[in-house]
Amino acid sequence: MTTSGLFRSFRFGAAAMAAALLALGSGSALAAGQNLADRHVARGMKCDACHVSASGGALKAADTDYGVCATCHGDYQKMIEKTAAKHKDSGQPNPHAQHDGALPCTECHKAHKPGVNYCAQCHSFVYKVP
Ligand code: HEC
Ligand code: HEC
Ligand code: HEC
Ligand code: HEC
Repeated sequence: MTTSGLFRSFRFGAAAMAAALLALGSGSALAAGQNLADRHVARGMKCDACHVSASGGALKAADTDYGVCATCHGDYQKMIEKTAAKHKDSGQPNPHAQHDGALPCTECHKAHKPGVNYCAQCHSFVYKVP
């Protein structure tokens, strides 16, 4: 695969996906339409599952977003294993099989707003980020 081929602009695709996720969030009271933090709270976790204090502010694990998520979910390798079945026949790489080292989980998973397809800055992979 050539670098020029990969560096195409898919910003419009990403924007359309974000808009679709926003529409889902505003139009529905279902847990699936809420932001990630709300869905954790709906499962019985409190704000201090991720934050030091119950009112938000500093995140619990060190000062990296990667750390606080990995506390419960594990690292990228663990996530690749967990989501392997979803990507077996998808024709695109597992989104957790990324090449940017200790990329914060929150580059894609936004706690208080819809997720973002970080990879789409450079690739045409279509990911719906929960
Ligand atoms: C699943 C982990 C998680 C939970 C649960 C969570 N947060 Fe957050 N929160 C984050 C992360 C990560 C950020 C940093 C911004 C981002 O990545 O979205 C953040 C940012 C914030 C901010 C900074 C402003 C902002 O929106 O970026 C406030 C305030 C906040 N959270 C309050 C809360 C409150 C209040 C609750 C409980 C209702 C809560 N959070 C539950 C992960 C969480
Ligand atoms: C205190 C433990 C804890 C922390 C910290 C935590 N999670 Fe979770 N998360 C859970 C549990 C428990 C579930 C429900 C079971 C499952 O799907 O693994 C869940 C579910 C999820 C899901 C799938 C379900 C959904 O509603 O989308 C995603 C995605 C997710 N977490 C991402 C994150 C990210 C990103 C962070 C860091 C900002 C984070 N979690 C921090 C415990 C945690
Ligand atoms: C490049 C974007 C991206 C990054 C970075 C990312 N994720 Fe994900 N994640 C996704 C997408 C897309 C899904 C939806 C399921 C799938 O396609 O595998 C997902 C699904 C999940 C789920 C739900 C898994 C399930 O059982 O359905 C959890 C939990 C999760 N991610 C945790 C993490 C953690 C922890 C990190 C950081 C170590 C992380 N993610 C980093 C894109 C990302
Ligand atoms: C800033 C731009 C950029 C971002 C963001 C990016 N990539 Fe890449 N990616 C590249 C470049 C450049 C290459 C090397 C292309 C080549 O070998 O010609 C590459 C190569 C790859 C390859 C190997 C492709 C091949 O045929 O060898 C995979 C798989 C991949 N990226 C997945 C991802 C995933 C998953 C994400 C999101 C987590 C991501 N990338 C985010 C620029 C990016």
